[in-house]
Amino acid sequence: MIQYQQPRLAGQDPAVLYPRLVDDNHHAPHPRLVGEDQEIPLVTGESRRHVNFDYAASAPPLVEVAEAVTALLPFYSSVHRGAGYKSQVSTRAYESARKSVHAFFGARPDDTLIFTRHTTDALNLLATCLPDGARVLATAVEHHANLLPWRRGRVDYVPVPAGPSELLQSLEAALAQADGTIALVAVTGASNVTGEIWPLAEIATLAHQYGARVLVDAAQLAPHAPIDIAALDLDYLAMSGHKLYAPFGIGVLIGRPDWLAQASPMVHGGGAVESVTLDDVVWRGLPERHEAGTPNLVGAVALGVACQTLLAFGMDKLAAEEAELYEHAWARLSAISGLSLYTVWDQTHPHIGVLTFNLEGYDHGKLATILSAEYGISVRSGSFCAHPLVQHLLRIDDSEANIGCDPVPNDTQDRPLGAVRLSIGLGTTRDDVDYVADALLELAENGPRWQYGQSPDTGEYRPVPETRVWPAPF
Ligand SMILES: Cc1ncc(COP(=O)(O)O)c(C=O)c1O
Repeated sequence: MIQYQQPRLAGQDPAVLYPRLVDDNHHAPHPRLVGEDQEIPLVTGESRRHVNFDYAASAPPLVEVAEAVTALLPFYSSVHRGAGYKSQVSTRAYESARKSVHAFFGARPDDTLIFTRHTTDALNLLATCLPDGARVLATAVEHHANLLPWRRGRVDYVPVPAGPSELLQSLEAALAQADGTIALVAVTGASNVTGEIWPLAEIATLAHQYGARVLVDAAQLAPHAPIDIAALDLDYLAMSGHKLYAPFGIGVLIGRPDWLAQASPMVHGGGAVESVTLDDVVWRGLPERHEAGTPNLVGAVALGVACQTLLAFGMDKLAAEEAELYEHAWARLSAISGLSLYTVWDQTHPHIGVLTFNLEGYDHGKLATILSAEYGISVRSGSFCAHPLVQHLLRIDDSEANIGCDPVPNDTQDRPLGAVRLSIGLGTTRDDVDYVADALLELAENGPRWQYGQSPDTGEYRPVPETRVWPAPF
């Protein structure tokens, strides 16, 4: 039987702020999500349990995270700035969360961990901390967050590789050609469009042979597989709390302290300074130097608790569960006539639970709208902020590359300018996979049951008529 241990607060180690669920055998039970059983309206007038296949965009909080945040709020106060009791509780909770996240990712003792807003913020921060003249090597598979920040300096991209060996070969060729001038190899941990898990240990070994460091954009990998920074010999890791079941506006950059300690802060302000005169400033050391302004205490505590909860359950167990669901989803979807699944590397390679496809006869945006309106299924459609990769997958050349994050205001396009993405998370069940596969099969064979139109302004599809009732804005 599961017992809830009430957190004790006053005078305790901040770790006890975190509620924990334990069973009689002290095994952590399967983590659960807030809103798992949420009923939502369908356009047909019925209602049903929401079926979430959009974890890769943003994931709901773990129950433990929501409970910890609720327990923290009565104590919410300034961090690092107050002698008051609640301030002290808040500071201890914030620093304890830093330790939990550090431990979750197996960071080395001297690695610094900077709380940021999200992965994008973390990558931009590292980009502003590169040594002068540092060159970066990235790949065409990256999310825009891991493509664009490096353009502040010189960045080269290897093309979308046909397999892991080709990836390593292209990286090695580029590193060799640059003759030791590449300072950083910036790669994703797993593709946000097609889900392949990248060979991080091999990339790190290779980069180090050529005197470069490695940054992993772990936004997608972190929620789905164990990552051990020290064992993989990674130099930097960036991730977002909202994809790791802690959606409270937090992210982190973890890694080697030297570049970060030497660079001027990206954000200037209070908390980051040792002393200020009217014409000078002395910046503090790490991590405060890069955490100017009032810290996001709630976000940090939420992320710390998510890390503790997932670690207690076992990321390897989670990864194994998701791998089974992914295989089942792949088998079901690939059996649907007219449905084309996209991949960069074949199915023998490990993938996180991300499946991207188009269905013949459907615009991707319209299909996503139908799945939501008629079936209560949430997916993402578009080009997933990875335009070069999506362009490659859809075999569109630059002259035709009218792809974007926005829907296309024209139903008559004869080629898909994006795709639909199903993404699996820790709330996904085999029944959910069968439900979405059955829905897609029905749509492929019989079409939608409702009418849909496009907004003339945004191009977004909407049911016509729209019958669903929306809650008042919160
Ligand atoms: C691989 C990858 N990197 C970076 C990001 C950016 O994350 P955020 O928007 O939280 O900064 C995303 C978001 O989808 C992603 O999938």
